[in-house]
Formats: sequence, structure tokens, C-alpha cells
Amino acid sequence: MGGCPFLNAAESADGVDERSREQRGSEWAPAMEESFGSAHADYAALRAANPFPWSEEFGGFWAATTYDDIVRIAQDHELFITSVQNVVPHVPRSSRRPPLHFDPPEHTAYREAIDPVLRRGVVRKREAAFRASAVGLVDEMLAGESPDAVRDFAAPFVMDCFAAFLGVPSTLTRRIREVGVRYAFAIQDMDDEVIAECSAQLYEIAERVYADRLAEDPDPSRDLVASLETAVQDPANHITRTTAVATVRQMIVAGMGAPQAALGSCLVHLAQDQDLQQRLRSHPEDLPTAIEEFLRLHAPYRVFARTAARDTTLHGRLVREGEPIALLFPSANRDAAVFDDPDEFVLGRAGNSHLAFGRGAHKCPAATMGRLELLVALQTVLERTESFELAGEVEMMNWLEYGPRSAPLVLHPAR
Ligand code: HEM
Repeated sequence: MGGCPFLNAAESADGVDERSREQRGSEWAPAMEESFGSAHADYAALRAANPFPWSEEFGGFWAATTYDDIVRIAQDHELFITSVQNVVPHVPRSSRRPPLHFDPPEHTAYREAIDPVLRRGVVRKREAAFRASAVGLVDEMLAGESPDAVRDFAAPFVMDCFAAFLGVPSTLTRRIREVGVRYAFAIQDMDDEVIAECSAQLYEIAERVYADRLAEDPDPSRDLVASLETAVQDPANHITRTTAVATVRQMIVAGMGAPQAALGSCLVHLAQDQDLQQRLRSHPEDLPTAIEEFLRLHAPYRVFARTAARDTTLHGRLVREGEPIALLFPSANRDAAVFDDPDEFVLGRAGNSHLAFGRGAHKCPAATMGRLELLVALQTVLERTESFELAGEVEMMNWLEYGPRSAPLVLHPAR
């Protein structure tokens, strides 16, 4: 981590640190070898010593670590835009994908097509499919040798849920996830060739999904593709078939990464805290509030970014037009200025306004679906086991998403 960011020689009259990128150098580098929770010690140290550091990693970016900074940036979509760079590292791409890569007001029409098919009443209709997947996977883990919380549960479960949401077979979402994971690691490694290859494959899949769904003539009030196609046919907006397919392309990546990471973290947390595990097993009615606390403690995303549309000052530092800022949602969720005992799991925490689903125009449209996935998965694993614990080392995803990549478990069946 870097030292004090301020240099008198580069301060303006009103005390703003105006050093150039070359002058400030790298003040922080995200750890590439994490253990479960280790990133949080790093973020806590940053919040105390240098809450808005510049990093030379991944092509260079600012890291917003405090709750207030992140809320301010996420809510000001005119000053902090997503149409230039919206993730760290910057992904070279041939076309922009809605909704994330578009700024309001262009962005709004996409959300008007996406949000209705993710409203509570529609998502609830998929609960039975989510549960059938969870039951099957937990039973397979109970019967199998050396089960892994991610490989055998979190990853296939979120793929099944996403297949149910999209109305496609799970074999296709499995393929999507394979390409998606390869794509995500290529982004972390900044491997342009693999990024381009995977991106083209994901576009092909999205085109096929689009055509297959339309052929079934689904209900636009419940089906993503049909809702987008209704918007394409509406001359009042600018959504075209190409940008509608690009939207599906973005949803199929966004829809599986975060829920997998969050569920993996919930399972590791519960495997490490037997008292909480037993408490939630005997009081399943507490699960929804426990899930909010898991989401606060283990928010998965820290790579989403904004680009400054013009020079501005944040945390006493000059951010120049065009510089990217990563929103470290997991850090904001443990900011002691907002949450008492921020590293503690507090069941029923009052005023738990965590940022796991973001804020502002780009706030996750699928928070209801994400919460339902976590609820069904945790209910099922708690009901069908007497207890479970870790059977080995937890391996993390590192910068990509905050969550485990692998977590070996021992599960004891319910009697
Ligand atoms: C526990 C589960 C999930 C978490 C924690 C989560 C978190 C987030 C966060 C923090 C953002 C905001 C990014 C930003 O401000 O730059 C976001 C955006 C988004 N999420 Fe989720 N997400 C989850 C599940 C899902 C699912 C299941 C889907 C799809 C069905 C999805 C689709 C999207 C899309 C399309 C966006 C971009 C929205 C926009 O730009 O307007 N997410 N998500």
C-alpha cells in the first residue's frame, strides 16, 4: 500500500492534491493471492490511511473505498459515466453492451425492458425450478466423494437458475458459464486474444438464445427476449435488434458471476461458523435477514467502474477527465462510518443499507432474483444436512469477484 497521498508542492490553494499520474505513482495494488476475507483487511487499512488511492495496476485506476464516495459516484451518472470505461481492467471491445455500457438517458430504455421481467411476481414463478435444482445438487453432494461448495453447488445452481430465468436448457447455461469464466480470467490477465475469442462466442450464444426464444413466441411481460423485442419493434425508442442481442450478451455474463460468488461466500461463512449454521437451521425464518448480512459482509463486485466525464475533486484529490474509478462495494459495506462493528455478522442488523447490489442508475436489476437464489440454496442445504464444515483450503477468485473459486466440504445428512 502507498503512503500519504499529499505532496505540498502539488497542492492547489484550496488544498487539493493535483499531482499528475506520473507524480503520484502507484499507491495500492490489489492482492492477486487472496484467502477468504483477506481483502477486507487490505480495504480497512486503505480506508484508514488512504481511502482514495491511485493504482497503476490494470492500466491505472482510482479505487473508491468509502461508503460515501461510492454512493456519491454511483448516484452522479452525469459526472461519472459508464460509456467509456466501466470495469477494471478496461476490456477492449468492438461494441458497447447495454445496459451497463450506456449512460442515461440512452440507458433508461433498456432498463424499462429488463426491469419488468425481473420483478418479484415474475421471479417467484421460478422458485420451484430453483428449488428442484438445489435439492438435486445437495443430494448429489451428500452422495458424492469430496464435494466442493463451488464446483458442485454454487456454480451449477446459478446456471440452472439462470437457465430457468432465460427459458433455455441448463446445458446451454453450462456452456455460457464455461466461456464466461474463461473470459473473466482473460480480462484479469489482460489477454486480448482470448478476450476477443470468448466475447465472439458469447455473442453467438446470445444470438442463438434470442432467435430460439422468439421462435417460441413467449410472453413479453415475463420473458427477457420477448420484452426486448417489443422495445425493438417500438419506433418510440432507439433499441435495435443488434443492441437487444448485446443486452442478452451482457445479462448472460452478469447473471451468473455475482450469485455464484455470493453463494460460495455464504457457504464458506456458514461452514466456518457452526453456531450460526445451527441457529439458521433451527430458525429458517431468520434466513432473509441473515442473507442481507451475508450480502453486506461478502458483496462480490469490486471491478465495476466509472470514468470521470470532466475534471473533478474527490476526497481532496484531483481526478482528471477520462480517469477510471473502481467502486469497491465490499469495502463500502464494512465502512465503520456507516456500520457499527463492521466486520461482525449481526443477525437483524438495524438499517442495513448495504451496497451489494450497487446504487443509482446501474443498480442491479436482479436483486430480487439474487436474493431468492441465495434463500432457496441456503434453505435447501440447511434442511438436508445436520451440519457441514470445510474439508480443506478455500481458493479465491481474486480480483475478478470477491468469493471462493473452490471450497471443499464435508456434509452430514439430516436424520
Ligand atoms: C447476488 C447476486 C447479485 C449481486 C450481488 C449483483 C450485484 C450487482 C451490482 C453491484 C451491480 C451494479 C454495477 C455498477 O454499478 O456498475 C449490478 C448490475 C447488474 N446486474 Fe447484478 N448482481 C447479482 C445478480 C444478478 C443477476 C442474477 C442478474 C441477471 C439475471 C444480474 C444482472 C445485472 C445487470 C444486467 C447489471 C447492469 C445494470 C445496469 O447497468 O443498469 N445481476 N449487479
